[in-house]
Amino acid sequence: MNETAQRIERMTAAGAGKRAERSRRARPTMAKWAARAAAAALALAAMPAALQAADPPPVAYPQGWRDWTHVKSMVIQPGHALFDAFGGIHHLYANKQALAGYRAGGKFADGSVIVFDLLEAKSADNTVQEGARKVLGVMVKDSRRYAATGGWGYEGFKGDSKTERAVGANAATACHACHQARKDNDYVFSAWRP
Ligand code: HEC
Repeated sequence: MNETAQRIERMTAAGAGKRAERSRRARPTMAKWAARAAAAALALAAMPAALQAADPPPVAYPQGWRDWTHVKSMVIQPGHALFDAFGGIHHLYANKQALAGYRAGGKFADGSVIVFDLLEAKSADNTVQEGARKVLGVMVKDSRRYAATGGWGYEGFKGDSKTERAVGANAATACHACHQARKDNDYVFSAWRP
């Protein structure tokens, strides 16, 4: 059982029941404590579901990212497996710490932030041009806060919004599950081209 599951068991009726059982076998004063735990379980049941899960701390909007270093760009066209989620043209940007990480061959220190700026791609006059912004993907390295997802926090800010979140508590499944494939490169797919 992991730490979260243990914490939940401690806080839930199931856990309280087990403790009550143990306390009956131990000494009667333990029953008082078990009753308190049961009351805590009731309080927990009244909490909104969003607060019960150990949600990852929110990733802040990366202010000033447009002035950071451009890493690379890519156009994902119809027919690509990732078209539904990431179709369009994207540019990657790195802050100072992330740039050092790219240059070190994929070892990112805490404080590294990488931005995935995804725009519509429009074909016109034999060119591919940038359209409206679809989403601003963000990866923030903080090995303590985001230990559950390889030390990276993930978020997507919808369109040009700095507050509307596309990922929220779903980073593990919506983002990290795929980035996991690059574990040996600190979960980062892209590489620095000189
Ligand atoms: C199905 C696989 C997949 C999923 C799911 C995915 N990514 Fe990525 N991501 C990639 C690939 C592949 C690249 C490299 C793109 C390139 O080289 O231009 C990438 C690149 C990135 C980068 C630039 C750093 C890097 O790894 O190269 C960021 C930031 C990013 N993704 C954020 C996110 C966020 C936020 C989510 C969740 C909403 C997400 N990704 C979900 C495959 C994925």
